[in-house]
Amino acid sequence: MNSTSIIRGFSKLTKEQKLDVVASHFADAEAVKKEFRSYWHSDAELQKKFDEFSENTLTNFYFPFGVIPNFLLNDQLLMVPMAIEESSVVAAAAKSAKFWLDRGGFHAEVVSTKKVGQVHFIWNGDKEKLKKYFPELKELLHLNTYHITCNMQKRGGGVTGIELVDMTMHDEGYYKLKGSFETCDSMGANFINSCLEEFAIILKDWFATSEHFAGDEKKTHIIMSILSNYTPECLVKCWVECPIEELGTFEDGMTAQEFAWKFSKAVMVAAVDKYRATTHNKGIYNGIDAVVLATGNDFRAVEACGHTYASRDGSYTSLTELSLDNDIFRYTLTVPMALGVVGGLTSLHPLVRRGLELLGNPSAEQLMMITAAAGLANNFGALKSLTTTGIQKGHMKMHLQNILNHFSATEEEKHLAILHFEKEKVSFSTVREFINDLREQPSAEVVKK
Ligand code: MEV
Repeated sequence: MNSTSIIRGFSKLTKEQKLDVVASHFADAEAVKKEFRSYWHSDAELQKKFDEFSENTLTNFYFPFGVIPNFLLNDQLLMVPMAIEESSVVAAAAKSAKFWLDRGGFHAEVVSTKKVGQVHFIWNGDKEKLKKYFPELKELLHLNTYHITCNMQKRGGGVTGIELVDMTMHDEGYYKLKGSFETCDSMGANFINSCLEEFAIILKDWFATSEHFAGDEKKTHIIMSILSNYTPECLVKCWVECPIEELGTFEDGMTAQEFAWKFSKAVMVAAVDKYRATTHNKGIYNGIDAVVLATGNDFRAVEACGHTYASRDGSYTSLTELSLDNDIFRYTLTVPMALGVVGGLTSLHPLVRRGLELLGNPSAEQLMMITAAAGLANNFGALKSLTTTGIQKGHMKMHLQNILNHFSATEEEKHLAILHFEKEKVSFSTVREFINDLREQPSAEVVKK
């Protein structure tokens, strides 16, 4: 890698100039420019749109966009879009979807849809007086943000609550306003942040002008106004269930009862061991993130929220629960997530638009259910493999294509490799050996093999 020196005003350069600067960091600058340009979209208008999603854009970064077919959710058959690079995620979700298709499919319900935002401030004054007059401030906060909230109110949303929270046990004079919001079909980040910044102005002005306060009490220091990505009351629950005996039979003659028992132990391990819980939840987010990305939502927000929720009782744990009561296998995922189907990338990115269309243009609540169910599908698929065959067999089969591409295998070599590895263990070295053998053999023998 070439060392780099400080560049000033990079963002103001044209795209070509930026590409020149970046390419100069490579030994083969011209080839790099050609390569980066080769990923530009042929439709210049569309490319401009992609460029404008972000800053300092040089090219497009390709990611596979696939689907889970036959995904039965709440008695509706769906085709769920996923954008993800990990080879076995779509395959695992599709396998789970197929498994549950004959067993009632996935079920989901939205528990709550409350979003949260906060204004953090420092005020040194008589706490009791602040508490006493807070209802007056609250009314002002509602009234004087009407110009921001009126449209959202017409859609059935808006500011649903404002609390004053005493945080002085953490720092002298530290308080926060904690707002609750209903943002309907939008994720709501801009709406919430606009309300909060207005709250901060109203709050500062109230302290400064109210007759209740004098001297230093008229001064406030606003620290910041920002939504919280922790939305424990924007919650969705999804589950799969069937009589244990209908789970079928598994590899090496494992019975449904044995499978359910072993599966319950795997769920127990994820509940009590944070090393396992993290991987267990990562497997859930394999599915969730892939749908979140394909539908133009913010996967960092969704993940951050879920991991905080997983630690809500003070210790990090898994997000799923299993019940085997009355011989019914019922596996549940409860997860918070704030999603939108309007605003943001949802109407700008052509594949996001198509992804949502494929789902029948769901409401935000429907999308929450679909996304969570995809997470449960991936997690069920992972636990099913882990407690029966192990994951490497399936995973390496999926990874075979990537390894073959690494060795620049021809279509014929790929075809022969796929046949060969149907019964053989896939690893980087076994594939390398196979390809080397193949390349050393005369072509007649290759075909015979
Ligand atoms: C791999 O991306 C995800 C898994 O590790 C999840 C799990 O272990 O539950 C297979």
